[in-house]
Amino acid sequence: MKQICVVGVGYVGLVTASCFADLGNSVVALDVDEKRIENLKKGIMPIYEPGLEELVRRNVKSGRLSFTNSYEEALDGAEFAFIAVGTPSGVDGNADLKYVESAAKSIAHSMTASLIIINKSTVPIGTGDWVADIVKGAQPKPIDFAVVSCPEFLREGSAIADFMSPHRNVIGSLDKDAANKVAQLHLPLRAPIVITDLRTAEMIKYASNAFLAAKISFINELADICEAYGADVKEVAAGMGYDARIGRHFLDAGLGWGGSCFPKDVQALAYMAKGKGLNPRMLNDTVVVNYDRRKAVATHVEKLLGGDLKGKVIGLLGLAFKENTDDMRDAPSVDISTALISAGAKVRGYDPVARKAAAPLLPEVEIFDDVYNMTDGCDALIVVTPWNEFKQLDLERVKDLLNSPVIYDGRNIYDPTLMKAMGFSYRAVGR
Ligand code: UDX
Ligand code: UDX
Repeated sequence: MKQICVVGVGYVGLVTASCFADLGNSVVALDVDEKRIENLKKGIMPIYEPGLEELVRRNVKSGRLSFTNSYEEALDGAEFAFIAVGTPSGVDGNADLKYVESAAKSIAHSMTASLIIINKSTVPIGTGDWVADIVKGAQPKPIDFAVVSCPEFLREGSAIADFMSPHRNVIGSLDKDAANKVAQLHLPLRAPIVITDLRTAEMIKYASNAFLAAKISFINELADICEAYGADVKEVAAGMGYDARIGRHFLDAGLGWGGSCFPKDVQALAYMAKGKGLNPRMLNDTVVVNYDRRKAVATHVEKLLGGDLKGKVIGLLGLAFKENTDDMRDAPSVDISTALISAGAKVRGYDPVARKAAAPLLPEVEIFDDVYNMTDGCDALIVVTPWNEFKQLDLERVKDLLNSPVIYDGRNIYDPTLMKAMGFSYRAVGR
């Protein structure tokens, strides 16, 4: 049982804190957002993540997990301090580290005994050294510490499972003793542990996300070629995926990636490359291919509606950037609704979970809390987020409610043959 402090209770920090508590450690989670901490003390979650509410409740009840705004309280007796604050994209694509800096300074001011400071947030190569300098410079009196990089590989919507059954844990530090202590913390997960230096660990995170993003942009580019040649990209992906060197995952063609990680990490890595005078062509094209997907949607729907969107009512099935989350960061639904509205359409939206989070970002979109009410009177529907409940929709009822039976399936969740047989004017991606 170890004493752990986690700074930042967002998508990454809250899952990290509650999972380490569930492994039997004593965890104090800190956040500067007092409302967020107050709510958590009342059992109200700041984010939607399947299974998180129960996990937090169980560990708070057992006394292993607590919440505070005070760094003194959070660090009292702590052996480890995880920094899991936001690292949003800055103006020119580089990561904005102001929150990491503020957390590092606060830790330096409040630590009273030797501490292992762990960067959980995704941070540019070299940040570990930078954090060490900040802490050294901010300590009122010198206290021994080490900085370790332990990047997160959590997918939103499956973050707890990804934490508890990781493909691997990566630990980077120049202080081998510190690295081993962090490795000990992860032993109960019984997953491969890669111990390396700080910069390599930071790079593994960016390289992994950039590769996954590139894989998706690859299959999306291939989808357009499949459409041009009458091949089915879903079956192409299946055929490719049997090759262990390729793998079936992250080969689903659709509207491309969004969220808080891929957009931020691919652009940050490209920025870092350019910073060294390199020209990251594949990273740049990965981004370009990705965002072209969203631009094409309005045109596809316009064609399905006979060439004109003016005054048409379009319903978006799903608003969150992906299924099983309420996260709207870089969600395709925002760009898609903007394009439709500027073409003269009226846009409606429905999402099982992200309605509240979506409202401020979609001021001109009428958001419904029932998918059939939204559908009633629409001229077309667009599948934007592949929630399971859309796969089970009563399509006969949908067809009756629609002014015209038009569906653009941006996530390939329906069977084209079935849709055509039901009389829908249906278009998918790459099929
Ligand atoms: C984000 C990115 O998604 C992830 O890729 C990166 O690895 C870490 O940053 P996330 O958990 O999604 O992780 O961030 P967010 O949901 O924005 O939560 C950050 C939390 O840190 C917020 O609750 C914020 O209040 C808190 N915070 C921010 C602090 O506690 N202290 C600060 O100084 C700034
Ligand atoms: C990702 C990484 O998977 C995770 O390891 C890292 O720690 C954080 O970033 P996340 O962004 O939460 O996780 O979700 P993910 O499931 O990876 O999906 C990312 C985006 O790619 C979503 O917009 C999703 O819709 C899209 N996607 C994913 C596809 O378009 N096709 C696919 O085959 C898979």
